[in-house]
Amino acid sequence: MAYALAVLASGRGSNLEAILRAVDEGRLDAEVRAVFSDREHARALDVAGSRGVRAVWVDPGAYGDKAGYERALLEGIRAVSPNCLVLAGYMRILSPRFVENAGCPIVNIHPSLLPAFAGLDAHGQALAAGVRFSGCTVHFVDEGVDQGPIIMQRVVPVAPDDTRETLAGRVLKEEHILLPEALDLMAKGRILREGRKAVILKEESH
Ligand code: GAR
Repeated sequence: MAYALAVLASGRGSNLEAILRAVDEGRLDAEVRAVFSDREHARALDVAGSRGVRAVWVDPGAYGDKAGYERALLEGIRAVSPNCLVLAGYMRILSPRFVENAGCPIVNIHPSLLPAFAGLDAHGQALAAGVRFSGCTVHFVDEGVDQGPIIMQRVVPVAPDDTRETLAGRVLKEEHILLPEALDLMAKGRILREGRKAVILKEESH
């Protein structure tokens, strides 16, 4: 049975598209069971809908507090029994309680070489720091913000005349390669979590 994914996304959904493309092209043996968003008009929901993937808006405003919203979100996610929950441009911080109760690993894609430039405006932070290289990271989500064990990273050069937009565009191209690759390793059972680190197991020889 294909590795079951649930995706949480707040916006454009280009990383979701990259996942679906990799599935179509046979680079990722997985099935996206549902896409959840905190934003009613997130393009990610349209991407899911147009591909026949269940698209669910969970309105944070419809619940008394964050805990209530997260309970509803969790209920929806658990109902599709994912093997892995993917944060693909999800712009809220999940509570430790949510992470504990997810019932499956959670992975996030972040547009910097963590642990550098966690949090918001990663590209602005990278440009302000004057780094020569930036990139993207897929990591496990734990109780900290952008701090869980790193699964994979890709590096891009930073040009002297880069703006947030040009750097973001260059990094995004790499994100679209990285996320399906990391999920493929997860699906193949090749990522082992060992304390603060994630280890990539060698491919089994047949
Ligand atoms: C991506 O660049 C992703 O790395 C970033 O949001 C963008 C979503 O784009 N995520 C974060 O900043 C999370 N902290 P997309 O909606 O087109 O996939």
